Amino acid sequence: MKMLKLEKLLVNSRWSRNRVLKLAKKLLGYIETDDETDFLEIGCGNGEVAKYITRTYRGSVTGIDIDPEQVEIARDKDGDIPNLKYLEADSINLPFENGSFDVVLSFGVLHHIEDWQQALKEIIRVLRHGGYFVCGDIIYPEGITKMDNSSAYSFGLATVDVDEVDSFLEENGFEMLHSSLERSFVVKDYEAVYRKG
Ligand SMILES: C[S@@+](CC[C@H](N)C(=O)[O-])C[C@H]1O[C@@H](n2cnc3c(N)ncnc32)[C@H](O)[C@@H]1O
Repeated sequence: MKMLKLEKLLVNSRWSRNRVLKLAKKLLGYIETDDETDFLEIGCGNGEVAKYITRTYRGSVTGIDIDPEQVEIARDKDGDIPNLKYLEADSINLPFENGSFDVVLSFGVLHHIEDWQQALKEIIRVLRHGGYFVCGDIIYPEGITKMDNSSAYSFGLATVDVDEVDSFLEENGFEMLHSSLERSFVVKDYEAVYRKG
């Protein structure tokens, strides 16, 4: 689901960009890469993380987002960088062949997707064996998320159940390499790195 204007302003702010970049750098420390690693970032937004990966690693980087405005911002900002491309696409129906990527990243995206189980299925499908799923998300307090489901998704205030995410991935042969759930003001920050067996 696309973001509302207010959330978009926040996500595109310098503060938010620095925050996600710091998290991405930390979580990328858990994975092994080589010169041919293919990265996919779902819900890449303004492309801050995708651009960092392109500058830091040698492989290819693809960023997808459901919101054409965010894809446009990412493209404008990055101009023509070899090995980096942005596409408008939906995470629940990724336009890629099975086993196309070594790393899939998702920051603040799963809580926007009502059928996040389908998004996970797609991530599992496009990852190669031995590949990594790197994830960060916001967990809102129950009082906020207890509004009706579609309102929660329209306002970007839904929450994924991290235990369900863990079990879903475990059932699909993933090993958890790192996971943490920490309170930050009224929300909790969830971060995890999984490896596909
Ligand atoms: C909170 S923003 C996070 C953006 C970026 N990952 C960051 O951390 O700055 C969530 C992003 O997910 C995108 N999004 C929401 N639902 C999506 C879907 N089904 N498929 C792809 N992108 C989606 C939104 O358009 C938005 O850019």
